[in-house]
Amino acid sequence: MVSKSPSSLVVTVIIALLSLGVGLVIGYLLRPFPENSKEHKSLEGWINDAEGAGDDKLAALEMLRDCGQLAREDPVISKHLIESDVEACRALTCDIPYPRTYVIYKLRGEAIDLDGKLDEKAWKNVGWTDSFVDIQGRGLPSPRLETKVKMRYDDSFLFIGVFIEEPDIWANVSLHDGTVYQDNSFQILMDTRQSNVNYKEITINAKGIISDLMMTKAYVDSGEPLTFWESDVMSEVHIQGTLNNPKKQDEYWTIEMAIPFTAMYQGSGASLNRSAPEPGETWRANFLRAQWPIRNFGTYYEKLTDASTEWWVWQSPEVINVHLPERWGLLQFQDTAINSTRFQTSDRWITTNALLDTFAALKAFHAVTGRYTDKKELLHLPPYIVSGKCLADLSIELDWSGFKVTAKPLGKNKEEGHTRTDHFLWFGKEDMQYF
Ligand SMILES: *[C@@H]1O[C@H](CO)[C@@H](O)[C@H](O)[C@H]1NC(C)=O
Ligand SMILES: *[C@@H]1O[C@H](CO)[C@@H](O)[C@H](O)[C@H]1NC(C)=O
Ligand SMILES: *[C@@H]1O[C@H](CO)[C@@H](O)[C@H](O)[C@H]1NC(C)=O
Repeated sequence: MVSKSPSSLVVTVIIALLSLGVGLVIGYLLRPFPENSKEHKSLEGWINDAEGAGDDKLAALEMLRDCGQLAREDPVISKHLIESDVEACRALTCDIPYPRTYVIYKLRGEAIDLDGKLDEKAWKNVGWTDSFVDIQGRGLPSPRLETKVKMRYDDSFLFIGVFIEEPDIWANVSLHDGTVYQDNSFQILMDTRQSNVNYKEITINAKGIISDLMMTKAYVDSGEPLTFWESDVMSEVHIQGTLNNPKKQDEYWTIEMAIPFTAMYQGSGASLNRSAPEPGETWRANFLRAQWPIRNFGTYYEKLTDASTEWWVWQSPEVINVHLPERWGLLQFQDTAINSTRFQTSDRWITTNALLDTFAALKAFHAVTGRYTDKKELLHLPPYIVSGKCLADLSIELDWSGFKVTAKPLGKNKEEGHTRTDHFLWFGKEDMQYF
């Protein structure tokens, strides 16, 4: 047995008292904040608190009113408020705005003579697309030169007629599949299945030189340009003016093209194994005009290195990157009498948008956390997706490669849509073939 001495007892008591003191100090520092203190009550708390005194309620309402008024007077906040109202309205109406559209009418006995001039009846009978706009769209001035397009089709070809207003017509690239976009040029971008994969790009300059390629995916999705893909396009350019002649002011150039459908459908998967579009078939598409800054030196044109290139497009992607197929316009093929129909909307539109918006939300979540999630509540999804009014269901599955999103449309027997980590978007069977 060990008997304790009185001195060791005193030391023990002192240590115990010190510990108690330190404990009290720490306890005081970590004391919980008084939750009911008026200073810390949230606005929501004021309104929801049914037990609150009458004065409190009045104060809350007054505060809300002042606050709402102040918020509406603040230009930045009021812009956000309007955007929230628009989002809320979409959740209620399920009305997602369409981009620019163009109905392509099938030829009905009219002939197209590929000479670059758009003077045939086949062209005169149909309207133009809307004029091109700055690639960044909203808030930017309209391009100073006109660009617009017409389209027709038959059982084998898509015909494209282009008008390009231009006082200085020049072109330098003369090799097929060369860097045609480095000249003033016109570019066609088409995604036959609206699937974000295996889309086509055809570029032409005023010499009629073509570069054509298939993008496996967009560059932002780590896609690759396959330059061995050939569109087999037939094309002619008409120049109203003189090519590469700085001494004369030119008026415009026009392009006439015939692109075989067999080439456009390559890589579209078995579900689009077609030789011509079916009536009502809808493609994603955009057109881009590259306008390089040049100086006329009297005997030659030279590119300016201290000014930036202008990019004019049919449908603005809102950013200086046309390689975002989900932000292009829509083309629809129709076999009816010219001008007898408008662009036909489809209930696939809401499903497609829900898939694209969920894809974007998952990528944004990944950028911050380094992982994907199958919990919708962790994602910033627009209200129309989560309201339950516009879709029957939307679910996310995680697998070794990332994610797969499935959107079930409202209504019976409607085909589900899907998208996955590589941005491929499809309805029905997953039958994409990569080259
Ligand atoms: C169709 O509409 C366009 C205008 O959008 C017009 O220029 C054209 O003449 C019309 N065609 C026919 C056949 O009515
Ligand atoms: C596509 O259709 C053609 C005939 O219409 C057929 O011979 C070919 O096997 C089909 N290809 C695929 C991948 O289904
Ligand atoms: C086209 O090429 C010629 C010869 O190389 C050059 O002098 C001219 O500046 C080029 N034009 C433009 C607009 O770059």
